[in-house]
Amino acid sequence: MSRNPVVAVVGATGAVGREMLKILAERDFPAREVIPMASARSAGSRLEFKGGELTVQELTEDSFRGIDLAIFSAGGATSEKFAPIAAGRGCVVVDNSSAWRMDPQVPLVVPEVNPSDLERHQGIIATPNCSTIQMVVVLKPLHDVGTIRRVVASTYQAVSGSGQEAVRELETQVKQLFSMQEVHPEVYPYQIAFNCLPHIDAFLDNGYTKEEMKMVNETVKIMGDENIKVTVTTVRVPVFFGHSESLNIQTASRITPQEARAILSQAPGVQVLDNPSEKLYPMPITAAGRDETFVGRIREDESTENALNMWVVADNIRKGAALNAVQIAEFLMIKDLIRVP
Ligand code: A2P
Repeated sequence: MSRNPVVAVVGATGAVGREMLKILAERDFPAREVIPMASARSAGSRLEFKGGELTVQELTEDSFRGIDLAIFSAGGATSEKFAPIAAGRGCVVVDNSSAWRMDPQVPLVVPEVNPSDLERHQGIIATPNCSTIQMVVVLKPLHDVGTIRRVVASTYQAVSGSGQEAVRELETQVKQLFSMQEVHPEVYPYQIAFNCLPHIDAFLDNGYTKEEMKMVNETVKIMGDENIKVTVTTVRVPVFFGHSESLNIQTASRITPQEARAILSQAPGVQVLDNPSEKLYPMPITAAGRDETFVGRIREDESTENALNMWVVADNIRKGAALNAVQIAEFLMIKDLIRVP
């Protein structure tokens, strides 16, 4: 590579896009220039970056001239249309949406789990669903030791996963309920304040939601093992930042809770917080603003053979989206996988 890449952040005004700019700055990503892009609505608005300001550009078909790397977080429809246009112009795309994840030509990558898949990229790289990312970061090191057979996952997902509108909706509803006013759900089908919705994304014919099937299918693709059976229930909870997951993990060979703690303590991107006698376990408020995936409540499933229960929490906007994408970009730089002229 003869120079540092010019980087576009597509969807820069959104919850993930703003975090992306923050993380690029924090990690001093070696970009020659960072260009924020969003819809026509936001063109000309300014976003803070490294103590200065960047002007948001409208995303159009001509936006990718001179861009070497584009990190997309503007929804599936935008990625479906614009990622191939960008890739066609020689720009490498790291896409946060679900549009390309299951395309066999597109690597689906969590850098702690399957970084070598990046080497076969053909212009578009997908980053997984937020709930999948924090789950596989924990599953991979356990799979390497004990061979995972089956995972039963239940999620407790923060509203920030549905974008900024949803964050505002929870905020507004809390205020309304405290002042005895009626709430008017718009982002979610029901009131989210002081409630839980067992419904994330659309329902499918098999009775699962799209979000649940994303976790099932993406996990198998990332782990590269079709023998891992996964079943999931995803639930939206009135938390602003940080997804939590209860995982039941069955392995071919027994892993004791002590062994699991030791394995996970050494795992990249994972921090074990597990001491019930000290009331030490991870919570969304532990993970918010942090890069690590936190694990606690590790214990044997006493109802069956070779199975563990654990509780996994991560910041869904950071490790679940923006940070994972920036880590991929860093890996692409190190391995010289961005074609900068
Ligand atoms: P805008 O702010 O101009 O609407 P979130 O998921 O937090 O709601 O953020 C979505 C992001 O995707 C925002 O930056 C939004 O820009 C951007 N976006 C949505 N639709 C488009 C589009 N058609 N073209 C470009 N950017 C889009």
